[in-house]
Amino acid sequence: MTEPLLSCRDVVVEYPGTGFRARPQRVLHEVSLSVRQGETLGLVGESGSGKTTLGRAILGLVPVSGGTVVFAGRDITRLGRQERRDLSAAIQVVFQDPYSSLNPARTVGDILTEPLLVAGVSRSQADQRIRDLLDQVHLPADAARRLPREFSGGQRQRIAIARALSRSPRLVVCDEPVSALDLTNQTRVLDLFIEIQERTGVAYLFITHDLAVVRRISHRVAVLRRGDIVEIGDARQVTTEPTHLYTQRLLLAAPVPDPRLQAERRAARRRLAEQVTRSQTGPTNRPPTMTGVGITGGPATDGPATAAAAGVPGERA
Ligand SMILES: Nc1ncnc2c1ncn2[C@@H]1O[C@H](COP(=O)(O)OP(=O)(O)OP(=O)(O)O)[C@@H](O)[C@H]1O
Ligand SMILES: [Mg+2]
Repeated sequence: MTEPLLSCRDVVVEYPGTGFRARPQRVLHEVSLSVRQGETLGLVGESGSGKTTLGRAILGLVPVSGGTVVFAGRDITRLGRQERRDLSAAIQVVFQDPYSSLNPARTVGDILTEPLLVAGVSRSQADQRIRDLLDQVHLPADAARRLPREFSGGQRQRIAIARALSRSPRLVVCDEPVSALDLTNQTRVLDLFIEIQERTGVAYLFITHDLAVVRRISHRVAVLRRGDIVEIGDARQVTTEPTHLYTQRLLLAAPVPDPRLQAERRAARRRLAEQVTRSQTGPTNRPPTMTGVGITGGPATDGPATAAAAGVPGERA
């Protein structure tokens, strides 16, 4: 089997505690996961579960206090500043907020050209590359002459994506890149991510708290809970037939547009909570199945027959 592009083994991250003699706060506990070349690994979990921290550890933005991060066969857990800079062509990032991630005082052309010029690309080659990039993210060529404030949130996120792609990375860490967008723009930008991946073979670690989003974009999904991976597997399996109770609860907590379905989910969540309490006091600890709440399309329910009907948009083809 081919080696994964990125491999995290038992990664531990601790933040310094606040206050006199405070103990460090361990935010990631021996997290292991891998991303293959050309693959999207979705990373989901509640707020505060450590998703961003893991992304930052991979990008070298927070110190890793245990375990290893290996990228393309090379240990990148602790790199010097120059080595990290050299790696920035291969590992890029797209953040959530398209309003603060672009320098407001510079034209889009300058924003996109800068990393190329720093990397030693000639001005004329950089200009040509920018025309190609704007075309790839479906923005008009004259966008290069304009300032970020002249664009909508969705368009700005396309600019941020173009910037991330400018040096043909092999991996992009995407931290909630569509969470600030309205639904229509979310779909468009997600489709753009997929289209780019199919064309270039780039891999994504796609961080989101939104299961509908993760299902659409991911090949595999990892579920993080309080700094531990509790479940990892095929995107369809994890988002429709999760084996871990935490994922089941996460799935049921995801809002759906239809109030009737929402009420059904609330009831299912209550049933799940009761089952959990019973199973903790009873002889077995087997997690209840999701059938009957319309997630797996199980029988004997007047709820929706498929995940799509339950308000979860289509999965990755
Ligand atoms: N710079 C920091 N210093 C101290 N603690 C931090 C720092 N950044 C994050 N934390 C803590 O680490 C934990 C994980 O935070 P993180 O931002 O990784 O969560 P997340 O899963 O990305 O959440 P969200 O979905 O809200 O973005 C939280 O308890 C948070 O308070
Ligand atoms: Mg986060």
